[in-house]
Amino acid sequence: MKKILAPSILAADFANLQRDVEMVNNSEADWFHIDIMDGVFVPNISFGMPVLKAIEKHATKFIDVHLMIVNPDQYFKTFAELGANMLTVHYEACTHLHRSLQSIKAEGMQAGVALNPHTNVQLLKDTIKNIDMVCLMSVNPGFGGQHFIENTYQKVRELKQMINEQNANTLIEIDGGVTNQNAQQLIEAGADVLVAGSYVFGAENPTQTIADLKQMMNNS
Ligand code: DX5
Ligand code: ZN
Repeated sequence: MKKILAPSILAADFANLQRDVEMVNNSEADWFHIDIMDGVFVPNISFGMPVLKAIEKHATKFIDVHLMIVNPDQYFKTFAELGANMLTVHYEACTHLHRSLQSIKAEGMQAGVALNPHTNVQLLKDTIKNIDMVCLMSVNPGFGGQHFIENTYQKVRELKQMINEQNANTLIEIDGGVTNQNAQQLIEAGADVLVAGSYVFGAENPTQTIADLKQMMNNS
């Protein structure tokens, strides 16, 4: 299966958002990764619905929304209306995860679950068949530009094994600190989707950086 690269808009230039969205449209990237933070679940606030609406107006690719918010269920309908294709909630923010997954799918979106670095992948053993994508956080959520946590490789392998054992159809996404230094190793460990924020948007030539990362991912 072809590997997926999802530039994280959190690292874009918000004063030139349309330009950066079009850069992704015209690049070899596959998805838009959109981080929504509430200042409660994580110690930072990113942006909310009006900004997502503005992005969606120009975006021509799959929209992967990562909710770092408490009580996410109350907003599922809104995010579906705003054009989210994948909606990812945090395991740590959902008291009734199984119900949340059903509600996301009932709104016509794919359902993702994100795990903080301290959360064990085995906790998803009873729900993995209901999950379209697991997002393994390779930094503590809340900020771009942090260092990749090395233990992530082990988590990818363990999760991949669980997915294979249960014959589940679940993608593995890695979010945080992804660069050309770890992309290949992550794919080899079993990752399907790599999110990259500051590595892409901080590059001198983001379009070329995306092309180079994609080549590295598909040659692994
Ligand atoms: C962090 C966000 C990430 C972030 C990744 O909480 O979930 O998506 O944008 O940024 P980099 O690639 O800079 O670590
Ligand atoms: Zn994210």
